[in-house]
Amino acid sequence: MSGFDKDWLALREPADRQARAKPLMDALRRHLVAETGTPSLLDIGCGTGSTYRALSSLLPANTRWQLLDYDPQLLQEAARRIGTSDMVTMRQHDLNDLAALPLDGVSVVTASALFDLCSADFCSRFVNRLAEQAAGLYAALNYDGVMQWSVPHPLDGAVVESFNRHQRLDKGFGPALGPDATGHLRHSLEPLGYRVMTGESPWHLGPEQQALQVELLRGIEKPVSEIGVIDASDLKSWLAFRLAAVTAQNSSCVIGHSDLLAIRTR
Ligand SMILES: C[S@@+](CC[C@H](N)C(=O)[O-])C[C@H]1O[C@@H](n2cnc3c(N)ncnc32)[C@H](O)[C@@H]1O
Repeated sequence: MSGFDKDWLALREPADRQARAKPLMDALRRHLVAETGTPSLLDIGCGTGSTYRALSSLLPANTRWQLLDYDPQLLQEAARRIGTSDMVTMRQHDLNDLAALPLDGVSVVTASALFDLCSADFCSRFVNRLAEQAAGLYAALNYDGVMQWSVPHPLDGAVVESFNRHQRLDKGFGPALGPDATGHLRHSLEPLGYRVMTGESPWHLGPEQQALQVELLRGIEKPVSEIGVIDASDLKSWLAFRLAAVTAQNSSCVIGHSDLLAIRTR
């Protein structure tokens, strides 16, 4: 797993699509259908456009999309995969520049697998910008701290604990919320007059997602080793056990996420 690498994003996209909380997607559709003007979405941290691909066929056909990311290569890949469309524009922008976020006329900001990277301070400033514009928020696939495997290993708990500690380190926005992202967003949005719905969106990865399970396990090793609590040779043994369990024992795993939809009611 190489963070925001396009191959990693492509590998996880089918699992993300399967996991998304359907009631929230339906509620987003109903909200946009009820809008008087043309629905306009801003997808932040868009990567290669997976949120667009997951939602666009469900939402009103006249919905306009701006896809925003700071990585020009991911934006280029998003443009290549989506193709030419009058309804979609790409925008290179660093989210840390919140004042210049293009929110004018935006009905709902969308994001997937983003807010667990963000700090409490960033989220608080971000929701204040949203509220100024009365824009809604659909924030999907925030990692919630749960990783469970069908074939247990004695170090699983310690590995997950180290991984979750790493999730709270700075990922470019200050100390990250990691597993607290959805709860923090909810508690920031409700006092600003938002009606907030949340739903679970766990990955259930079985033998048919072997490649994703393997990349996920390889991606866990580096952050856990950086935390430095688990002995290096124990961590290597854990990884070897886990990789063998995926290939030889058809082991499965659950990786927890949660989704949030917030709509301004006053
Ligand atoms: C985990 S990826 C998720 C991508 C996509 N939403 C998806 O679900 O496949 C996080 C995305 O956030 C983007 N990102 C991270 N920090 C950013 C920043 N400061 N400004 C804009 N985009 C950022 C990355 O480039 C990456 O595309």
